[in-house]
Amino acid sequence: MQTRLLPPTPEALGLAARLIRDGALVAFPTETVYGLGANALDEEAVRSIFAAKGRPGDNPLISHIAHMDQLGPLIAADPAPAAVKLMDACWPGPLTLIFPRSKRIPDAVTAGLDTAAVRMPSHPVARALIERAGVPIAAPSANRSGRPSPTTAGHVLEDMDGRIPLILDGGPCDVGLESTVVDFKDGVPRILRPGGVTREMIADIAGDCLVDGAVMRPLKEGERPRSPGMKYRHYAPKGALTLFAGHSADVAARIRREYDAARLEGHSPLILALEGDLPLYGERRTLSMGRDAHEAAQRIFAALRDADQLQADVLFAEAVTTDGIGLAVMNRLGRAAAFHIEQV
Ligand code: TXA
Ligand code: MG
Repeated sequence: MQTRLLPPTPEALGLAARLIRDGALVAFPTETVYGLGANALDEEAVRSIFAAKGRPGDNPLISHIAHMDQLGPLIAADPAPAAVKLMDACWPGPLTLIFPRSKRIPDAVTAGLDTAAVRMPSHPVARALIERAGVPIAAPSANRSGRPSPTTAGHVLEDMDGRIPLILDGGPCDVGLESTVVDFKDGVPRILRPGGVTREMIADIAGDCLVDGAVMRPLKEGERPRSPGMKYRHYAPKGALTLFAGHSADVAARIRREYDAARLEGHSPLILALEGDLPLYGERRTLSMGRDAHEAAQRIFAALRDADQLQADVLFAEAVTTDGIGLAVMNRLGRAAAFHIEQV
């Protein structure tokens, strides 16, 4: 199959909407990461998402909607009061909510769970595509399973060339990390995956916010995850990654020592550091994570792709704050490092 990469002109959006209605897959930009979309009500089409990604069939998908009218048919009961507040305040935007599901959604989307994940993206191209297709669009991140999520159309092409007919190129994604996933099983919002809508924002809007324990540590032996995505080994770089947390001068001194020792052992190390800390590493090989946690969110997936390209076999990264969007950055970095985080 030939994969076309097109800017989101009205003609390209028309083509994309037709492909979705015909049961084909289209990659499209959202404000978080690029999605790999199919008609969420077409079981066959949804199955082909799993095939194109190489995704385990028991990891459910998020259904994307453009209007509130599209929510009702997907869910089984009225949303909890906290969910209503969050939808009012944060939709459209990088927030996914878990609801009791209706029978209208095929099992392939929910992986047979009795809940469904729904989000209303804010990206104009995503919204236009959903509107034109006239159906909710099921879409995971548009990477091959186990690779970093794509934040540019080029990343999607790297992973999906020859597997899908069309990629809409909307430029780099604004947030750079996948949406915040929240459930309400305890009556209180609980973050299952941190993202652009932060714990602080949710607590402000809904009065309370829990963060699931498995956000910042590996699952325990026999622990049943609240979100199937938690149990999968996510992106792991080719090189072994370790994170270092503490005061920046101490962290830099430690990373310099680790780096130099790795070089002496014949390794090809690489440092991921905040922009302002780069001078602390002198001539050593570094990749910038940007100036702060917000820029780190935008850059981290591209940096991890670059690290592989550079053939680094040992990686050292500075931890960022776990406040605000920093929690999402640390969750993704933590998972990439199998939560190998050292306090300096
Ligand atoms: O920002 C995003 O959310 C992007 C863009 C494309 O919208 N999509 C995305 O999808 O990240 P995906 O499939 O890569 O991640 C969906 C996550 C997975 O961790 C999955 O396990 C979880 O949401 N999930 C889906 N349905 C769920 C459910 N019913 N209960 C708990 N977790 C669920
Ligand atoms: Mg994903």
